[in-house]
Amino acid sequence: MSAFDLTGRRALVTGGAQGLGEGMARALAAAGATVMIGDLQADRAAAVAAEIGGGSAHLDVTSEDSWTAAIDATVAHLGGLDVVVNNAGVEITGLLTEISVDDVRRQLDVNVLGTALGLKHALRAMRPGGAAGGGGSVINVASVAATIAFPGIAIYSATKSAIDRMTRVAAMESGKLGYDVRVNCIYPGLVPTEMGAGLASDMAEIGLFGSPEEAVEAVVGLTPSGRLGEVRDMADAVVFLASDASRFVNGAGLPVDGGMGM
Ligand SMILES: NC(=O)c1ccc[n+]([C@@H]2O[C@H](COP(=O)([O-])OP(=O)(O)OC[C@H]3O[C@@H](n4cnc5c(N)ncnc54)[C@H](O)[C@@H]3O)[C@@H](O)[C@H]2O)c1
Repeated sequence: MSAFDLTGRRALVTGGAQGLGEGMARALAAAGATVMIGDLQADRAAAVAAEIGGGSAHLDVTSEDSWTAAIDATVAHLGGLDVVVNNAGVEITGLLTEISVDDVRRQLDVNVLGTALGLKHALRAMRPGGAAGGGGSVINVASVAATIAFPGIAIYSATKSAIDRMTRVAAMESGKLGYDVRVNCIYPGLVPTEMGAGLASDMAEIGLFGSPEEAVEAVVGLTPSGRLGEVRDMADAVVFLASDASRFVNGAGLPVDGGMGM
């Protein structure tokens, strides 16, 4: 059996109703895992879950109660939990001179608090004596924005840098306390999902580039691989980090950005 095979593994993907999370859920299922999608968009999550033979749960990653319910539903529906992908996130473009308190709080809430609660509930469920109890792998979704300075995304970049650091500390705590849960993160490059395409438009709208196309060209120009990212690029990296192929990869941040962030 291939070390990348996920047969028998049970995974929860947050923000899996669309975009990168949907691609990650599909790729994990294609590799053999059964997958629960946790998202605010219940209908879309259920539709994707039906196509991949998995389940879905309403999840607001900023709510403790919502996490408790989603983990309970996942363990009950899938019979355990081996992989959690903390993918749900939001991006609000803006120059530092124009930030609003609400926009800063929203990004901190979903990206930082949401990932922190995801780590909390994943580790509690997967550690010995937890509802699942068999150890596993947590994959956090940071961003190339945590590794470079790009204008217009200061707060978003700060939240993604926070995810990077949380990943390292989580891996350290998990190891020290014998949880048998690996914790890693990926740094995706720009992918034209709803968020990625919106970012390019917003950059043009706030005057940083002449058009969304120019913003995209600037990103591609900074990327040795010479293209934008694709959903499957990120999804395959998540399959790797979920699988035994990455068994000795722990507390790491994997750039999946065509070299943009090096
Ligand atoms: N697209 C990119 O270029 C890019 C690049 C780097 C990192 N990322 C990161 O990848 C992740 C996914 O991005 P995407 O491009 O697929 O975004 P997207 O906006 O297309 O999808 C985000 C998903 O998260 C869900 N979501 C938002 N808030 C939530 C909450 N509070 N609780 C539960 N679900 C919630 C949405 O309903 C949606 O299904 C994000 O963390 C993003 O920051 C994206």
